[in-house]
Amino acid sequence: SAAVDRAVDALRRGDPILVHDAADREGEVDLIYPAAAVTPEAVARMRNDAGGLVCAALGDRVADAFELPYLQEVIDHPVAADHDLGYDERSSFSLTVNHRDTYTGITDEDRALTITELAAAATDPEGTDFASEFRAPGHVHVLRAAPGLLADREGHTELAVALAGAADLPPAMVVCEMLDDDTGTALTPAAARSYADREGLVYVEGSAVVERLGRPVSDD
Ligand code: 5RP
Ligand code: CA
Ligand code: ZN
Repeated sequence: SAAVDRAVDALRRGDPILVHDAADREGEVDLIYPAAAVTPEAVARMRNDAGGLVCAALGDRVADAFELPYLQEVIDHPVAADHDLGYDERSSFSLTVNHRDTYTGITDEDRALTITELAAAATDPEGTDFASEFRAPGHVHVLRAAPGLLADREGHTELAVALAGAADLPPAMVVCEMLDDDTGTALTPAAARSYADREGLVYVEGSAVVERLGRPVSDD
C-alpha cells in the first residue's frame, strides 16, 4: 500500500512512524523509530507523547549473536512458570540493558546512548562483545523478533523489524506504546491518526504491512 511505502521512506530518513497492530490483538499503536536515529529528543517524545515502555526490537540473528534470551525462558521463578497472554502465544521480551557508558541509564541522554549503541552493535553482531559494551539489568527493554518475522508472529516487534528490512536498515528498531493521557488506555487508532496528521507522521495498519511485505522469512 502507499501508506506502507511512505512509512518505509520515513524510516529511511530517520523519522518515526505509527503502527497499529490489530483490533483483535493488542489493539495498540506504537511510535516506532530506527534505533540508529534515536536522539535524546526522540526519547523525550516517547515519554511525553507516547507514554508506554521504550523498547529496542532486535532481529533474531542479532539477538542470537548477543546471546539475548527470551525472558520468559530464563526467569527462574514461579511467576514465569505459566506465561498465558491474552493476545499472543508468547512475549518478545528479552533482558533490560544499559550501555556501560551510561550513569543511571534512565535519562533521555542515557537511553538514547544505549539505543544508538544497540543499533551500532546490530550492524556488526559477530564483531560485538555484547557483555563488555552493555550491562543488565538496565533501562531499555530489549525485544527479540521471531525467527521467521511476520510468518511467525505479527507483533510490533516483528512489524518494526520487517519494516527495517524493507528500508535497508539494520534490524534494530525502537517501539513505544501510545497511551491516552486522559484515560490511561491504549490510544485509539482514530486518535493516533490525528496525532500523526498534526505531527506530519505516517500512520500505518499492521495488516497493510503484512500484505505489502509479504511475510518475509528472515531479518537479513
Ligand atoms: C512492550 C510491548 C509492546 O506491545 C511492544 O509493541 C512489543 O510487543 P509486541 O511485539 O507483542 O507487540 O509489550 O512494551
Ligand atoms: Ca503523555
Ligand atoms: Zn505491541
